[in-house]
Amino acid sequence: MNRIFSGMQPTRQLHLGNYLGALRNWVALQDQFESIFCIVDLHALTLPQDPAVLLSNTREVTAAYIAAGIDPDRCIIFNQAAVAAHSELAWILSCHTPMGWLNRMTQFKEKAGKHRENAALGLYAYPVLMAADILVYKATHVPVGEDQKQHLELARDIAGAFNRHYGNDFFPLPEPQILGEATRVMSLRDGSKKMSKSDESDYSRINLTDDADTIALKVRKAKTDPEPLPEAVEELEKRPEADNLVTIYSALAGTSRQDTLGQFAGQQFSAFKGNLVDLAVAKLAPISTEMNRLMSDVGEIDRILRHGADKASAIASANLSDIKDIIGLLRP
Ligand code: AMP
Ligand code: TRP
Repeated sequence: MNRIFSGMQPTRQLHLGNYLGALRNWVALQDQFESIFCIVDLHALTLPQDPAVLLSNTREVTAAYIAAGIDPDRCIIFNQAAVAAHSELAWILSCHTPMGWLNRMTQFKEKAGKHRENAALGLYAYPVLMAADILVYKATHVPVGEDQKQHLELARDIAGAFNRHYGNDFFPLPEPQILGEATRVMSLRDGSKKMSKSDESDYSRINLTDDADTIALKVRKAKTDPEPLPEAVEELEKRPEADNLVTIYSALAGTSRQDTLGQFAGQQFSAFKGNLVDLAVAKLAPISTEMNRLMSDVGEIDRILRHGADKASAIASANLSDIKDIIGLLRP
């Protein structure tokens, strides 16, 4: 059986990178797979959070999933903290994960920065919790953006190590699904940096909740170079900002970068940006309108999350019981 698991952290607002790199693909995949989509609030705790903001972001990310097209009647949508099995399995897996594997994780190095001694243990162990999220459902496929590739390889390694240690093939090795034209959307201010919630400049990203004027302003201010759009994709290689805008346009339009160049080659970026604004507003405005509508009824969001948590718990507890039996942990 094929089952998808994926998640996003409820830290700040979701942006175009989250949408094009992940969320949009989830919407397309929910027809083919049994799908479980999580709001990973425990992962958010790896960096300091304000309690009220965390709570409100958890509901807002839920609203974003649904507004983007995830169907809560067909998919399981829930927040990680509501299903205790994630944390329990994370502990078990952490005892099967060599520290050397975690020492290789580039995201820890980036997020911990210069003062690694002060970073929380949870930030270091973050990829083990992520592996537990996936493996507690025995998920087979994990749709994510490019930046999660290394974490997914670790999840596969942990699953393999567990299976080998106990001489079985209990965990399927989860397949990453890194799909579409925009697997790594870059900052609008710097084509060498990924578009990120944590960038201090809001002009670096387009948020799913930005209104039409804000989108227009951010696209107009986006960094480019003075050359017109080229004819061939290869010519974008040394032009990261130009490449990024062409990639974003193509992903939103559902075409290839080459087709986009076929349409706009020879034009100046000022003209191309006008088309990009129209397209981005057309695609994102319905999502933000629907998000606002959903956020006006928090009770309904909480009900969806509770219902999702019940369904997720049923699957996760059954698998956790099997895992405890395999390991030799006595359970009631
Ligand atoms: P996060 O906001 O870190 O929880 O990420 C949620 C999902 O969005 C993950 O699947 C990420 O890989 C994806 N993602 C985040 N930033 C980007 C980006 N700039 N481009 C493409 N995908 C992204
Ligand atoms: N680490 C992921 C991110 O920041 C979020 C995440 C947590 C996740 N658990 C997961 C993604 C399990 C896929 C599967 O983007």
